[in-house]
Amino acid sequence: MTTTRPQRTLLAPGLEISRLVTGLWQVADMERDGRTLDPDVAAGDLAAYAAAGFDTFDMADHYGSAEIIAGRFLANVRAGKAPAGTAFTKWCPKPGAMTPDVVRDGVQRSLDRMGLDTVDLMQFHWWTFDHPGYLDAVKGLARLREEGRIRNIGVTNFDTAHLRVLVKHGLPIVSNQVSFSVLDRRAAGEMSDFCLANGVRLLAYGTLGGGLVSQRWLGAPEPTAVDDWSKMKYKRFVDTIGGWDALQGILRALADVAAKHGASIPNVATRWVLDHPAVAAVIIGARLGEREHRADNLKVFDVALDDADRARLGEAFARSKPVPGDCGDEYRRPPFLTASGDLSHHLDTVEKVYRAVPVEGRPGRLRIDSGSIWEPVCGYSRAVRAGDRIFVSGTTATHGSGEIVCPGDPGGQTVYILDKIAASIAALGGSLEDVVRTRIYIRDVALWEPVARAHGRYFGDIRPANTMVEIADLIGDYEVEIEAEAIVG
Ligand SMILES: NC(=O)c1ccc[n+]([C@@H]2O[C@H](COP(=O)([O-])OP(=O)(O)OC[C@H]3O[C@@H](n4cnc5c(N)ncnc54)[C@H](OP(=O)(O)O)[C@@H]3O)[C@@H](O)[C@H]2O)c1
Repeated sequence: MTTTRPQRTLLAPGLEISRLVTGLWQVADMERDGRTLDPDVAAGDLAAYAAAGFDTFDMADHYGSAEIIAGRFLANVRAGKAPAGTAFTKWCPKPGAMTPDVVRDGVQRSLDRMGLDTVDLMQFHWWTFDHPGYLDAVKGLARLREEGRIRNIGVTNFDTAHLRVLVKHGLPIVSNQVSFSVLDRRAAGEMSDFCLANGVRLLAYGTLGGGLVSQRWLGAPEPTAVDDWSKMKYKRFVDTIGGWDALQGILRALADVAAKHGASIPNVATRWVLDHPAVAAVIIGARLGEREHRADNLKVFDVALDDADRARLGEAFARSKPVPGDCGDEYRRPPFLTASGDLSHHLDTVEKVYRAVPVEGRPGRLRIDSGSIWEPVCGYSRAVRAGDRIFVSGTTATHGSGEIVCPGDPGGQTVYILDKIAASIAALGGSLEDVVRTRIYIRDVALWEPVARAHGRYFGDIRPANTMVEIADLIGDYEVEIEAEAIVG
Protein backbone atom coordinates (compact mmCIF):
# COMPACT_ATOMS: atom_id res chain seq x y z
CA MET A 1 0.00 0.00 0.00
CA THR A 2 1.34 3.45 -0.87
CA THR A 3 2.03 5.78 2.01
CA THR A 4 -0.28 8.78 2.08
CA ARG A 5 1.22 10.75 4.97
CA PRO A 6 4.75 11.00 6.38
CA GLN A 7 5.61 8.62 9.20
CA ARG A 8 5.69 10.11 12.66
CA THR A 9 7.99 9.76 15.65
CA LEU A 10 7.95 10.76 19.27
CA LEU A 11 10.80 13.27 19.60
CA ALA A 12 10.19 13.66 23.32
CA PRO A 13 7.36 12.69 25.65
CA GLY A 14 4.25 14.47 24.33
CA LEU A 15 6.00 15.76 21.20
CA GLU A 16 5.05 13.73 18.14
CA ILE A 17 6.50 15.04 14.89
CA SER A 18 6.59 14.24 11.19
CA ARG A 19 9.73 12.34 10.15
CA LEU A 20 9.92 14.80 7.26
CA VAL A 21 10.22 18.20 8.91
CA THR A 22 9.79 21.25 6.66
CA GLY A 23 12.74 23.64 6.94
CA LEU A 24 12.29 27.39 6.59
CA TRP A 25 15.89 28.67 6.28
CA GLN A 26 14.99 29.13 2.63
CA VAL A 27 12.69 32.01 3.67
CA ALA A 28 15.80 34.02 4.57
CA ASP A 29 17.24 33.35 1.13
CA MET A 30 14.00 34.34 -0.59
CA GLU A 31 13.99 37.57 1.43
CA ARG A 32 17.63 38.47 1.00
CA ASP A 33 16.82 41.40 -1.32
CA GLY A 34 14.94 43.00 1.59
CA ARG A 35 11.48 42.04 0.33
CA THR A 36 9.55 40.03 2.97
CA LEU A 37 7.12 37.28 2.06
CA ASP A 38 3.45 38.08 2.59
CA PRO A 39 2.83 36.38 5.96
CA ASP A 40 -0.78 35.47 5.15
CA VAL A 41 0.10 33.87 1.84
CA ALA A 42 3.11 32.06 3.34
CA ALA A 43 1.02 30.91 6.35
CA GLY A 44 -1.37 29.44 3.77
CA ASP A 45 1.57 27.53 2.28
CA LEU A 46 2.39 26.10 5.73
CA ALA A 47 -1.26 25.06 6.10
CA ALA A 48 -0.99 23.12 2.82
CA TYR A 49 2.10 21.32 4.16
CA ALA A 50 0.31 20.59 7.45
CA ALA A 51 -2.79 19.29 5.65
CA ALA A 52 -0.59 16.75 3.87
CA GLY A 53 0.95 15.60 7.18
CA PHE A 54 4.14 17.68 6.77
CA ASP A 55 3.07 19.49 9.90
CA THR A 56 6.41 20.11 11.66
CA PHE A 57 8.32 23.28 10.81
CA ASP A 58 11.92 24.18 11.61
CA MET A 59 13.02 27.80 11.97
CA ALA A 60 15.54 30.03 13.71
CA ASP A 61 15.66 33.57 15.02
CA HIS A 62 17.58 34.60 11.89
CA TYR A 63 15.55 32.85 9.16
CA GLY A 64 14.08 36.08 7.77
CA SER A 65 10.39 36.36 8.66
CA ALA A 66 9.94 32.58 9.13
CA GLU A 67 8.95 32.91 12.81
CA ILE A 68 6.35 35.54 11.91
CA ILE A 69 4.95 33.36 9.13
CA ALA A 70 4.77 30.37 11.49
CA GLY A 71 3.11 32.62 14.10
CA ARG A 72 0.45 33.57 11.56
CA PHE A 73 -0.06 29.91 10.68
CA LEU A 74 -0.34 28.88 14.35
CA ALA A 75 -2.88 31.67 14.97
CA ASN A 76 -4.93 30.24 12.10
CA VAL A 77 -4.64 26.80 13.72
CA ARG A 78 -5.95 28.19 17.02
CA ALA A 79 -8.80 29.88 15.15
CA GLY A 80 -9.71 26.54 13.56
CA LYS A 81 -8.73 27.87 10.11
CA ALA A 82 -5.71 25.60 9.50
CA PRO A 83 -4.73 22.02 10.37
CA ALA A 84 -2.58 21.56 13.47
CA GLY A 85 1.18 21.99 13.27
CA THR A 86 4.31 22.17 15.40
CA ALA A 87 6.96 24.87 15.22
CA PHE A 88 10.60 24.48 16.25
CA THR A 89 12.92 27.41 16.43
CA LYS A 90 16.54 28.19 17.32
CA TRP A 91 18.28 30.75 19.42
CA CYS A 92 21.75 31.63 18.08
CA PRO A 93 23.17 34.35 20.37
CA LYS A 94 26.57 35.97 19.96
CA PRO A 95 28.85 34.49 22.65
CA GLY A 96 29.13 36.65 25.75
CA ALA A 97 27.78 36.61 29.30
CA MET A 98 24.63 34.48 29.22
CA THR A 99 22.80 35.95 32.21
CA PRO A 100 19.26 34.73 32.95
CA ASP A 101 17.94 37.99 31.43
CA VAL A 102 19.90 37.55 28.21
CA VAL A 103 18.50 34.03 27.82
CA ARG A 104 14.97 35.11 28.70
CA ASP A 105 15.09 38.02 26.22
CA GLY A 106 16.43 35.78 23.44
CA VAL A 107 13.65 33.24 23.93
CA GLN A 108 10.97 35.88 24.43
CA ARG A 109 11.85 37.52 21.11
CA SER A 110 11.06 34.27 19.29
CA LEU A 111 7.92 33.64 21.35
CA ASP A 112 6.69 37.16 20.51
CA ARG A 113 7.36 36.70 16.81
CA MET A 114 5.51 33.38 16.85
CA GLY A 115 2.71 34.72 19.08
CA LEU A 116 3.23 31.84 21.52
CA ASP A 117 3.47 31.50 25.31
CA THR A 118 5.56 28.36 24.98
CA VAL A 119 7.52 26.72 22.17
CA ASP A 120 7.67 22.96 21.59
CA LEU A 121 11.40 22.84 20.83
CA MET A 122 13.98 25.60 21.31
CA GLN A 123 17.31 24.66 19.73
CA PHE A 124 20.48 26.39 20.82
CA HIS A 125 23.51 27.18 18.65
CA TRP A 126 26.88 28.34 20.01
CA TRP A 127 29.63 29.76 17.83
CA THR A 128 32.77 28.95 19.80
CA PHE A 129 33.38 26.63 22.71
CA ASP A 130 36.38 28.70 23.84
CA HIS A 131 33.65 30.72 25.55
CA PRO A 132 31.94 28.66 28.27
CA GLY A 133 28.78 30.80 28.23
CA TYR A 134 26.97 27.97 26.45
CA LEU A 135 26.62 26.21 29.78
CA ASP A 136 24.89 29.25 31.34
CA ALA A 137 22.73 29.64 28.25
CA VAL A 138 21.46 26.05 28.39
CA LYS A 139 20.99 26.27 32.17
CA GLY A 140 18.91 29.38 31.47
CA LEU A 141 16.88 27.48 28.89
CA ALA A 142 16.36 24.69 31.43
CA ARG A 143 14.96 27.25 33.90
CA LEU A 144 12.59 28.55 31.22
CA ARG A 145 11.56 24.98 30.57
CA GLU A 146 10.67 24.58 34.23
CA GLU A 147 8.66 27.81 33.99
CA GLY A 148 6.81 26.40 30.96
CA ARG A 149 8.15 28.87 28.35
CA ILE A 150 9.89 26.03 26.49
CA ARG A 151 8.64 22.45 26.33
CA ASN A 152 11.86 20.84 25.11
CA ILE A 153 15.47 21.92 24.67
CA GLY A 154 17.51 20.91 21.66
CA VAL A 155 20.87 22.03 20.37
CA THR A 156 22.16 22.45 16.87
CA ASN A 157 25.63 21.89 15.42
CA PHE A 158 27.03 20.62 18.72
CA ASP A 159 29.91 18.21 18.32
CA THR A 160 29.86 14.99 20.33
CA ALA A 161 32.33 16.34 22.90
CA HIS A 162 30.20 19.35 23.82
CA LEU A 163 26.92 17.50 23.58
CA ARG A 164 28.51 15.23 26.15
CA VAL A 165 29.34 18.19 28.41
CA LEU A 166 25.69 19.29 28.40
CA VAL A 167 24.23 15.82 28.87
CA LYS A 168 26.70 14.76 31.58
CA HIS A 169 26.09 18.07 33.31
CA GLY A 170 22.51 16.88 33.71
CA LEU A 171 20.91 19.26 31.21
CA PRO A 172 17.76 17.92 29.51
CA ILE A 173 18.72 17.87 25.83
CA VAL A 174 16.30 15.99 23.57
CA SER A 175 17.86 16.60 20.15
CA ASN A 176 20.86 17.80 18.16
CA GLN A 177 20.21 19.24 14.70
CA VAL A 178 23.18 18.50 12.44
CA SER A 179 24.20 18.16 8.82
CA PHE A 180 23.72 14.51 7.82
CA SER A 181 23.53 13.30 4.26
CA VAL A 182 25.06 11.02 1.66
CA LEU A 183 27.62 13.83 1.19
CA ASP A 184 28.33 14.39 4.89
CA ARG A 185 28.30 11.19 6.90
CA ARG A 186 30.03 12.45 10.07
CA ALA A 187 26.90 12.05 12.20
CA ALA A 188 26.84 8.29 11.55
CA GLY A 189 29.90 7.76 13.78
CA GLU A 190 30.64 8.82 17.33
CA MET A 191 27.71 11.27 17.36
CA SER A 192 25.14 8.55 16.65
CA ASP A 193 26.71 6.24 19.25
CA PHE A 194 26.57 8.94 21.91
CA CYS A 195 23.00 9.92 21.04
CA LEU A 196 21.77 6.33 21.13
CA ALA A 197 23.46 5.69 24.47
CA ASN A 198 22.10 8.89 26.01
CA GLY A 199 18.58 9.26 24.61
CA VAL A 200 19.33 12.24 22.34
CA ARG A 201 17.73 12.23 18.85
CA LEU A 202 19.26 13.68 15.71
CA LEU A 203 17.41 16.05 13.40
CA ALA A 204 19.23 15.85 10.07
CA TYR A 205 19.55 18.74 7.63
CA GLY A 206 21.35 19.11 4.31
CA THR A 207 19.91 15.73 3.32
CA LEU A 208 19.42 16.91 -0.26
CA GLY A 209 22.47 19.18 -0.38
CA GLY A 210 20.17 22.14 -0.93
CA GLY A 211 18.80 20.39 -4.03
CA LEU A 212 22.19 19.30 -5.48
CA VAL A 213 21.25 15.72 -4.54
CA SER A 214 18.55 15.39 -7.17
CA GLN A 215 17.98 14.25 -10.77
CA ARG A 216 18.50 17.79 -12.00
CA TRP A 217 22.25 17.63 -11.28
CA LEU A 218 22.91 14.03 -12.38
CA GLY A 219 25.35 14.25 -15.30
CA ALA A 220 25.08 18.05 -15.31
CA PRO A 221 28.23 20.12 -15.79
CA GLU A 222 29.65 21.78 -12.70
CA PRO A 223 27.98 25.19 -12.32
CA THR A 224 30.27 28.21 -12.30
CA ALA A 225 28.03 29.80 -9.66
CA VAL A 226 25.05 28.65 -7.64
CA ASP A 227 22.22 30.96 -6.91
CA ASP A 228 20.88 30.30 -3.41
CA TRP A 229 22.52 30.20 0.02
CA SER A 230 21.66 26.57 0.57
CA LYS A 231 23.35 25.39 -2.64
CA MET A 232 26.29 27.74 -1.96
CA LYS A 233 26.76 25.99 1.36
CA TYR A 234 26.51 22.43 0.09
CA LYS A 235 28.66 23.19 -2.97
CA ARG A 236 31.43 23.77 -0.39
CA PHE A 237 30.71 20.30 1.01
CA VAL A 238 30.95 18.89 -2.53
CA ASP A 239 34.32 20.62 -3.04
CA THR A 240 35.52 19.16 0.28
CA ILE A 241 34.56 15.56 -0.48
CA GLY A 242 36.43 15.48 -3.80
CA GLY A 243 34.60 17.90 -6.07
CA TRP A 244 32.01 17.53 -8.81
CA ASP A 245 33.20 14.05 -9.83
CA ALA A 246 32.68 12.78 -6.28
CA LEU A 247 29.15 14.23 -6.30
CA GLN A 248 28.46 12.63 -9.69
CA GLY A 249 29.67 9.24 -8.40
CA ILE A 250 27.26 9.46 -5.46
CA LEU A 251 24.41 10.69 -7.70
CA ARG A 252 24.96 7.76 -10.10
CA ALA A 253 24.80 5.29 -7.20
CA LEU A 254 21.63 6.96 -5.87
CA ALA A 255 20.12 6.88 -9.37
CA ASP A 256 20.88 3.14 -9.74
CA VAL A 257 19.25 2.34 -6.41
CA ALA A 258 16.34 4.69 -7.14
CA ALA A 259 15.70 3.00 -10.52
CA LYS A 260 15.59 -0.40 -8.82
CA HIS A 261 12.90 0.82 -6.40
CA GLY A 262 10.95 3.01 -8.83
CA ALA A 263 11.90 5.94 -6.60
CA SER A 264 13.72 9.27 -6.97
CA ILE A 265 17.27 10.25 -6.08
CA PRO A 266 16.00 12.40 -3.14
CA ASN A 267 13.95 9.40 -1.89
CA VAL A 268 17.03 7.17 -1.66
CA ALA A 269 19.20 9.92 -0.16
CA THR A 270 16.54 10.65 2.48
CA ARG A 271 15.85 6.97 3.19
CA TRP A 272 19.59 6.38 3.77
CA VAL A 273 19.63 9.09 6.46
CA LEU A 274 16.30 8.08 8.05
CA ASP A 275 17.56 4.49 8.40
CA HIS A 276 20.16 5.56 10.97
CA PRO A 277 18.69 4.67 14.34
CA ALA A 278 19.71 7.91 16.05
CA VAL A 279 17.84 9.99 13.47
CA ALA A 280 14.37 11.10 14.50
CA ALA A 281 13.64 13.07 11.34
CA VAL A 282 15.15 14.81 8.34
CA ILE A 283 14.50 18.47 7.68
CA ILE A 284 13.85 19.25 4.03
CA GLY A 285 14.04 22.89 3.03
CA ALA A 286 11.06 24.50 1.31
CA ARG A 287 10.91 27.53 -0.94
CA LEU A 288 7.38 28.59 -0.01
CA GLY A 289 5.24 29.61 -2.95
CA GLU A 290 7.99 28.82 -5.49
CA ARG A 291 8.18 25.02 -5.56
CA GLU A 292 7.11 22.10 -3.39
CA HIS A 293 8.11 18.43 -3.55
CA ARG A 294 5.72 16.80 -1.06
CA ALA A 295 4.36 14.11 -3.37
CA ASP A 296 7.85 12.94 -4.33
CA ASN A 297 9.27 13.17 -0.80
CA LEU A 298 6.38 11.13 0.61
CA LYS A 299 7.56 8.16 -1.47
CA VAL A 300 10.56 7.80 0.84
CA PHE A 301 8.29 5.75 3.09
CA ASP A 302 7.70 3.21 0.32
CA VAL A 303 11.42 2.57 -0.20
CA ALA A 304 13.30 -0.07 1.81
CA LEU A 305 17.04 -0.21 1.16
CA ASP A 306 18.64 -3.65 1.15
CA ASP A 307 22.24 -4.76 1.63
CA ALA A 308 22.96 -4.55 -2.11
CA ASP A 309 21.69 -0.95 -2.18
CA ARG A 310 23.83 -0.03 0.80
CA ALA A 311 26.84 -1.71 -0.81
CA ARG A 312 26.29 0.23 -4.07
CA LEU A 313 26.11 3.51 -2.10
CA GLY A 314 29.08 2.46 0.01
CA GLU A 315 31.24 2.03 -3.11
CA ALA A 316 30.45 5.59 -4.19
CA PHE A 317 31.11 6.90 -0.67
CA ALA A 318 34.49 5.16 -0.67
CA ARG A 319 35.45 7.08 -3.81
CA SER A 320 34.75 10.41 -2.07
CA LYS A 321 36.62 11.98 0.84
CA PRO A 322 34.88 12.20 4.21
CA VAL A 323 34.00 15.64 5.54
CA PRO A 324 36.69 16.11 8.22
CA GLY A 325 36.05 16.32 11.95
CA ASP A 326 32.82 16.03 13.86
CA CYS A 327 29.35 17.53 13.45
CA GLY A 328 29.28 21.32 13.66
CA ASP A 329 33.02 21.76 13.07
CA GLU A 330 32.14 23.50 9.79
CA TYR A 331 31.03 26.54 11.84
CA ARG A 332 34.10 26.67 14.06
CA ARG A 333 37.22 25.58 12.20
CA PRO A 334 38.60 25.10 8.70
CA PRO A 335 37.34 23.99 6.32
CA PHE A 336 34.48 26.37 7.07
CA LEU A 337 31.49 24.99 5.19
CA THR A 338 28.81 27.59 5.73
CA ALA A 339 26.83 29.62 3.20
CA SER A 340 29.20 32.54 3.79
CA GLY A 341 32.35 30.42 3.84
CA ASP A 342 35.25 31.31 6.16
CA LEU A 343 33.88 32.45 9.51
CA SER A 344 37.24 33.05 11.20
CA HIS A 345 36.83 36.86 11.01
CA HIS A 346 33.41 36.55 12.60
CA LEU A 347 34.80 34.29 15.34
CA ASP A 348 37.60 36.81 16.02
CA THR A 349 34.98 39.44 16.89
CA VAL A 350 33.30 37.22 19.48
CA GLU A 351 33.75 38.28 23.12
CA LYS A 352 36.69 36.49 24.76
CA VAL A 353 36.39 34.90 28.17
CA TYR A 354 39.95 35.78 29.34
CA ARG A 355 41.99 38.98 29.04
CA ALA A 356 45.77 39.11 29.32
CA VAL A 357 47.31 41.81 31.54
CA PRO A 358 50.96 42.93 31.53
CA VAL A 359 52.94 42.00 34.66
CA GLU A 360 54.28 45.20 36.20
CA GLY A 361 58.04 45.58 36.05
CA ARG A 362 58.50 42.45 33.90
CA PRO A 363 58.65 43.46 30.24
CA GLY A 364 57.44 40.69 27.93
CA ARG A 365 55.48 38.97 30.68
CA LEU A 366 51.69 38.67 30.54
CA ARG A 367 49.28 36.83 32.74
CA ILE A 368 45.61 35.92 32.92
CA ASP A 369 43.58 36.21 36.07
CA SER A 370 40.41 34.21 35.72
CA GLY A 371 38.79 35.95 38.68
CA SER A 372 39.04 32.97 41.05
CA ILE A 373 39.21 34.15 44.66
CA TRP A 374 42.13 31.74 45.14
CA GLU A 375 44.46 33.30 42.59
CA PRO A 376 45.55 36.24 44.80
CA VAL A 377 45.28 34.19 48.00
CA CYS A 378 47.51 31.36 46.79
CA GLY A 379 49.60 33.48 44.43
CA TYR A 380 49.13 31.98 40.97
CA SER A 381 47.66 32.87 37.61
CA ARG A 382 45.41 30.94 35.26
CA ALA A 383 48.21 31.23 32.71
CA VAL A 384 51.43 33.17 32.16
CA ARG A 385 53.33 34.19 29.04
CA ALA A 386 57.06 34.88 29.34
CA GLY A 387 58.63 35.74 25.99
CA ASP A 388 57.49 33.10 23.54
CA ARG A 389 56.54 30.56 26.22
CA ILE A 390 53.08 30.07 27.71
CA PHE A 391 52.40 28.08 30.88
CA VAL A 392 48.83 27.13 31.81
CA SER A 393 48.19 26.21 35.45
CA GLY A 394 46.62 22.93 36.46
CA THR A 395 43.08 23.40 35.17
CA THR A 396 39.92 21.78 36.45
CA ALA A 397 36.39 21.72 35.10
CA THR A 398 35.25 24.60 37.27
CA HIS A 399 32.57 26.81 35.79
CA GLY A 400 32.18 30.37 37.05
CA SER A 401 32.94 30.79 40.70
CA GLY A 402 33.02 27.13 41.69
CA GLU A 403 30.48 24.94 39.90
CA ILE A 404 31.89 21.51 39.03
CA VAL A 405 31.13 20.65 35.42
CA CYS A 406 30.02 17.09 34.59
CA PRO A 407 30.39 15.67 38.11
CA GLY A 408 31.72 12.12 37.93
CA ASP A 409 32.35 12.20 34.16
CA PRO A 410 36.06 12.45 33.33
CA GLY A 411 35.45 12.68 29.55
CA GLY A 412 33.13 15.68 29.85
CA GLN A 413 35.45 17.35 32.37
CA THR A 414 38.40 16.94 30.00
CA VAL A 415 36.52 18.67 27.18
CA TYR A 416 35.61 21.58 29.42
CA ILE A 417 39.20 21.85 30.71
CA LEU A 418 40.76 21.78 27.25
CA ASP A 419 38.44 24.59 26.14
CA LYS A 420 39.68 26.65 29.12
CA ILE A 421 43.26 25.87 28.19
CA ALA A 422 42.62 26.80 24.53
CA ALA A 423 40.99 30.09 25.59
CA SER A 424 43.87 30.90 27.99
CA ILE A 425 46.52 30.29 25.33
CA ALA A 426 44.53 32.30 22.76
CA ALA A 427 44.27 35.25 25.17
CA LEU A 428 48.06 35.17 25.50
CA GLY A 429 48.57 35.29 21.73
CA GLY A 430 49.08 31.59 21.03
CA SER A 431 46.95 28.69 19.90
CA LEU A 432 46.56 25.00 20.66
CA GLU A 433 48.95 24.33 17.73
CA ASP A 434 51.71 25.90 19.88
CA VAL A 435 51.27 23.40 22.75
CA VAL A 436 54.41 21.31 23.30
CA ARG A 437 53.49 19.56 26.57
CA THR A 438 50.41 18.55 28.51
CA ARG A 439 50.20 16.83 31.88
CA ILE A 440 47.06 15.03 32.91
CA TYR A 441 46.30 14.20 36.53
CA ILE A 442 43.50 11.69 36.85
CA ARG A 443 41.80 10.54 40.04
CA ASP A 444 41.17 6.97 38.90
CA VAL A 445 43.43 5.72 36.14
CA ALA A 446 40.87 3.01 35.30
CA LEU A 447 38.91 5.88 33.73
CA TRP A 448 41.79 6.95 31.47
CA GLU A 449 40.20 6.22 28.11
CA PRO A 450 37.51 8.95 27.79
CA VAL A 451 40.12 11.43 29.00
CA ALA A 452 42.72 10.24 26.51
CA ARG A 453 40.18 10.25 23.67
CA ALA A 454 39.04 13.80 24.47
CA HIS A 455 42.71 14.87 24.58
CA GLY A 456 43.16 13.19 21.20
CA ARG A 457 40.26 15.16 19.74
CA TYR A 458 42.07 18.43 20.56
CA PHE A 459 45.65 17.34 20.05
CA GLY A 460 45.41 14.51 17.50
CA ASP A 461 47.33 16.49 14.86
CA ILE A 462 49.44 18.57 17.27
CA ARG A 463 50.82 15.70 19.32
CA PRO A 464 52.51 17.47 22.27
CA ALA A 465 54.61 15.50 24.76
CA ASN A 466 52.25 14.18 27.41
CA THR A 467 52.24 12.59 30.83
CA MET A 468 49.25 11.04 32.57
CA VAL A 469 49.49 10.50 36.31
CA GLU A 470 47.04 8.96 38.75
CA ILE A 471 46.47 11.14 41.79
CA ALA A 472 44.09 9.53 44.23
CA ASP A 473 43.11 12.82 45.85
CA LEU A 474 42.70 15.67 43.42
CA ILE A 475 41.89 18.84 45.31
CA GLY A 476 38.15 19.38 45.05
CA ASP A 477 35.63 16.90 43.76
CA TYR A 478 37.22 16.53 40.32
CA GLU A 479 38.00 13.55 38.12
CA VAL A 480 40.79 15.20 36.18
CA GLU A 481 43.13 18.19 36.11
CA ILE A 482 45.34 19.22 33.16
CA GLU A 483 48.22 21.66 32.68
CA ALA A 484 49.84 22.76 29.43
CA GLU A 485 52.91 24.51 28.05
CA ALA A 486 53.22 26.17 24.67
CA ILE A 487 55.93 27.86 22.64
CA VAL A 488 54.45 30.51 20.36
CA GLY A 489 55.53 30.60 16.73
N1 LIG B 1 20.94 24.09 12.11
C1 LIG B 1 21.57 24.54 11.07
O1 LIG B 1 22.69 25.08 11.16
C2 LIG B 1 20.94 24.38 9.73
C3 LIG B 1 21.70 24.60 8.59
C4 LIG B 1 21.09 24.41 7.35
C5 LIG B 1 19.75 24.02 7.29
N2 LIG B 1 19.03 23.84 8.41
C6 LIG B 1 17.61 23.44 8.38
O2 LIG B 1 17.44 22.44 7.42
C7 LIG B 1 16.50 22.86 6.43
C8 LIG B 1 16.87 22.18 5.17
O3 LIG B 1 17.58 23.04 4.31
P1 LIG B 1 18.93 22.75 3.58
O4 LIG B 1 19.50 24.07 3.28
O5 LIG B 1 19.74 21.80 4.35
O6 LIG B 1 18.46 22.14 2.19
P2 LIG B 1 17.97 20.68 1.76
O7 LIG B 1 16.84 20.26 2.58
O8 LIG B 1 19.15 19.78 1.61
O9 LIG B 1 17.48 21.03 0.28
C9 LIG B 1 16.25 21.66 0.08
C10 LIG B 1 16.02 21.82 -1.41
O10 LIG B 1 16.01 20.55 -2.03
C11 LIG B 1 15.13 20.57 -3.12
N3 LIG B 1 14.22 19.43 -3.00
C12 LIG B 1 13.47 19.05 -1.95
N4 LIG B 1 12.80 17.93 -2.22
C13 LIG B 1 13.11 17.60 -3.48
C14 LIG B 1 12.73 16.55 -4.34
N5 LIG B 1 11.91 15.58 -3.93
N6 LIG B 1 13.22 16.54 -5.60
C15 LIG B 1 14.06 17.49 -6.03
N7 LIG B 1 14.47 18.51 -5.26
C16 LIG B 1 14.00 18.55 -4.00
C17 LIG B 1 14.37 21.88 -3.09
O11 LIG B 1 14.95 22.72 -4.06
P3 LIG B 1 14.04 23.72 -4.92
O12 LIG B 1 13.20 24.43 -3.94
O13 LIG B 1 15.07 24.58 -5.59
O14 LIG B 1 13.26 22.88 -5.87
C18 LIG B 1 14.66 22.41 -1.71
O15 LIG B 1 14.69 23.82 -1.67
C19 LIG B 1 16.56 24.38 6.48
O16 LIG B 1 15.41 25.00 5.96
C20 LIG B 1 16.70 24.60 7.97
O17 LIG B 1 15.44 24.44 8.60
C21 LIG B 1 19.62 24.00 9.63
